[in-house]
Amino acid sequence: MQDAKEEIKSRLAIEDVISQYVELKRAGRTLKGRSPWGIDKTPSFMVSPEKGIWHDFSANKGGDVISFVMEVEGITFMEAMEKLAAQAGVDLEKYKTRGNKDVARRKARAREALELATKYYQFCLSKSRRVAEYVFYKRNLNRGTVKEFRIGYAPADGKSLKTFLKSRGFSEAEMGDAGLLNRFGGDMFRGRMMVPFIEGENVIGYTARVLDKSEPKYLNTSDTILFNKSRFIFGLAQAKEAIRKNGFVVIVEGNMDVISSHQAGVKEAVATSGTAMTEQHLKILSRLTNDIRLAYDGDEAGVNATERAIGMAGELGINLTVISDYHGAKDPDELIQKDPQLWQAAVGTAKPAVDWLLDKYEEKVDMGSAFGKKEYSDVALKLLKSVKDKVERAHYEEVVARRLGVSREDLRGKQEDLTRKLEEKPKRRLKKAKTEAKTDTLGRLESNLLAIGVYGGVEIPSELEIPEDETKLGELELVFEQTYKGWGRAALEAEVKGLYARLKTEVRKTEIEKLTAELEDEDLDPEREKEILRRITELQKTKK
Ligand code: UTP
Ligand code: MN
Repeated sequence: MQDAKEEIKSRLAIEDVISQYVELKRAGRTLKGRSPWGIDKTPSFMVSPEKGIWHDFSANKGGDVISFVMEVEGITFMEAMEKLAAQAGVDLEKYKTRGNKDVARRKARAREALELATKYYQFCLSKSRRVAEYVFYKRNLNRGTVKEFRIGYAPADGKSLKTFLKSRGFSEAEMGDAGLLNRFGGDMFRGRMMVPFIEGENVIGYTARVLDKSEPKYLNTSDTILFNKSRFIFGLAQAKEAIRKNGFVVIVEGNMDVISSHQAGVKEAVATSGTAMTEQHLKILSRLTNDIRLAYDGDEAGVNATERAIGMAGELGINLTVISDYHGAKDPDELIQKDPQLWQAAVGTAKPAVDWLLDKYEEKVDMGSAFGKKEYSDVALKLLKSVKDKVERAHYEEVVARRLGVSREDLRGKQEDLTRKLEEKPKRRLKKAKTEAKTDTLGRLESNLLAIGVYGGVEIPSELEIPEDETKLGELELVFEQTYKGWGRAALEAEVKGLYARLKTEVRKTEIEKLTAELEDEDLDPEREKEILRRITELQKTKK
């Protein structure tokens, strides 16, 4: 694949590919734009056409055209290669080894089977009155929507799709790869309205709804070689353009809410299999916009999901808002059935997620009693911990203190108690996220040092390994030009000293954190525990 990569790179201008995602302006020999990861305040995204590389100073990442597409689309190396090969007119087949040829072949056949199945289901929908009645009258979908989302119907007999695909030359193994067979070898979907999962141009699975009250209400494709539930975002293929154009996304709970929403003119709606949003989902969406509006139900599941989402969003530097004014309807779909304009209006009145949660907490407890206040402050303080921005946090502390009728100092006091308790038994997940953020700071310090070492002609500590990889070197040059161009020797030497001291502190801190995390393991060997404690003390001593 190395040769294929080179051929693709030589045929595509990196700025042409990146311009599809980021608006670039020329600034001397480089091009500049805003970070597609949405965390810069001034343009911090740089492309060097000569070197064929990009570097994002706010997110401290970079690389070549392929790594850019991987990052920005949230796809694998092979997926990015396929996408770019198509743009460059490169035939990837001639580069493939037998192993990846097999997988690629299986994927291609599964895609073909799904495409044909979708056409078949669409045909079946048009042939059954009962089904058409459900889709067009009960769900109120119009022809355009049914066509755009490629909605169909799977016959109830349990074998007609299999028979059809077989007659078109598909083997059982191929149907299995596509997720179209159940474990007894019959049709997976029977007597259900079929809604395809679409990724790019391809169908990769389905969510299938019963037409009556039987259970389970929905049957979904489970993970296959094509479909990955924790990465897939329902409706994104249809919503992408509107999200980019209008600068926001609405996450709803149900797939049918997405479809209704599109029909009602709110084309920025997507869903992540109910409330099971993952960090990957959030990352993919945050590449398109940092205005993410949640439209979950106000029930327990919705509150929990919002709390989880806030935790993840804080780490990614995204602001979440919540849409909750459904005028008594249980979900967006129901609201749209009442009046599509009410939904359009609701989307425009999203509230910061933290405010929304604080209101929810307040509704749940009796703020008139001491116990109620304690309960409220417990959950509220826990929530405030996930607010990363200092000014924002101060604002919310004030809000919470006011609602409790206490001073901010009292609130601070309680917060410190809680923090101490939390540190006695910290959550593993939080620790991990923190370590990741650290690694990022480390990465930034290290690349600045290396940039000076390679392009500034100043000696850097020998333990820093100078990369040999061309792309990496090109990136360092970009870092140097952007940050240190025109600096004198003395200034650079001082900078190296400063950076190196910070690097050492960071390394120490990271190690202490890792060791502390290890201490939480309940089955930790007592000998190892002693050693860890000794090591931590040692590390803390060298700090002074
Ligand atoms: P809902 O039951 O809220 O969906 O489940 P909905 O869109 O309102 O359903 P309708 O309007 O009755 O048709 C929300 C999501 O949870 C998942 C699906 O992803 C669904 O879109 N779900 C729900 C299942 O996977 N299986 C189920 O049986 C139910
Ligand atoms: Mn519904």
